[in-house]
Amino acid sequence: MIVILDLGSQINTVIARMIRDLGVYSEIHPHDISLDKLSQLPNVKGIIINGGKNNLIGGVPIDTNHAIYDAGYPILAVNHQLAKGENKREGWPETEAETREVLKYFLFDTCRAETNWNMKNFIDDQIDLIKKQVGDKKVLLALSGGVDSSVVAALLIKAIGKQLVCVHVNHGLMRKDESESVIEVFKNQMDANLVYVDASERFLNKLENIADPEEKRKIIGAEFIRVFEEEARKLEGIDFLAQGTIYPDIVESGTKTAAIVKSHHNVGGLPEDLKFELVEPLFHLFKDEVRACGLELGLPEEMVYRQPFPGPGLGVRCLGAITKDRLEAVRESDAILREEFKIAGLNKKVWQYFTIVPDFKSVGIKNDARSFEYPVIIRAINTIDAMTASIEQIEWPVLLKITDRILNEVPNVNRVCYDLSPKPCATIEWE
Ligand code: XMP
Repeated sequence: MIVILDLGSQINTVIARMIRDLGVYSEIHPHDISLDKLSQLPNVKGIIINGGKNNLIGGVPIDTNHAIYDAGYPILAVNHQLAKGENKREGWPETEAETREVLKYFLFDTCRAETNWNMKNFIDDQIDLIKKQVGDKKVLLALSGGVDSSVVAALLIKAIGKQLVCVHVNHGLMRKDESESVIEVFKNQMDANLVYVDASERFLNKLENIADPEEKRKIIGAEFIRVFEEEARKLEGIDFLAQGTIYPDIVESGTKTAAIVKSHHNVGGLPEDLKFELVEPLFHLFKDEVRACGLELGLPEEMVYRQPFPGPGLGVRCLGAITKDRLEAVRESDAILREEFKIAGLNKKVWQYFTIVPDFKSVGIKNDARSFEYPVIIRAINTIDAMTASIEQIEWPVLLKITDRILNEVPNVNRVCYDLSPKPCATIEWE
């Protein structure tokens, strides 16, 4: 592998991706990694030091551990002054094409790295590692049906079969047919050991009359952990907890030099006596590699290319205090939107698209009579990192067809609006 030492450069991940795209495995490690730790990493062929020598953390300049310079590894230094010597190169090109040329030269001429990084090899390696880590013990996984947890499930099923216990909690705020598809794919097709918990009523009861968005989020998060904990306690002899932690989770929140972009969220919050050893087989994968891994493992495209979906689910799209009629209106209109986006070929083009139902009504006419019903708001946005977003300029005929279907097929709705707001000022979700 090629090791990139992290001196806080934003393009570390870009370089890591480029190297992997050239078929060579690469990992980003802390700038001050010890020679001992470095030599324990498997098959290190070369090191890239990326970032200035005078970078600061909390006002204190940082530097690499100089002991690694004389350990015999080929080193490519980028914007970093090194003592000149054999095996050491400095500087950085201007364009991406030049970058690739320099990288290729470094990887294949200087380091003589092998091109053996591909999903098939990754899966084979992970299966061996999982088997070694877990032995004949049992592993628990909270399987939401999202891309990361689904790929972890498929990988673990392949590695240890029924030793994996998946728990799918339906909090009643899932999209239409979502829990059903988790059962179909994992229980029926992959023969997984799947515990399905229908906690819909329980969540809806807890959320009754709660209108404040933050309070809703807190209740959903806390209740989720409670339900999961109850299920975990019913199961005997579990030693491990699998998690769909992926590389950006680590790179964005775990390195010494990175500004915290978002905190790393996972099934934390379990009580002390329920602490498990973690199994995190996707730890080193970028999101698109996770998808490629899912496809290689035979997961359906719909699951692998699923758009991001917030933990609190439709709960933050049924605005204010959740009611069953409005929740159904969100679920049905969202299903129509997804169907029509697929027909129009927008499902792979638009990053995130969904509907919202607010807690106010407007006047309309239905069947020649006055109606007083809810509006449905459509939101469709594009983004790279969810920190900023622009709206998708959907063709009128597509919007009109969706509007027509929502007005005809969704009960309690008499108006459809399209949200034109970018982020900022608006956030992507309404709550
Ligand atoms: P906002 O609304 O903050 O959303 O612009 C940015 C992205 O994050 C998703 N989102 C969440 N994801 N748990 C999640 O896993 C959450 O509580 C949550 N809230 C928002 C949102 O769908 C968008 O993609």
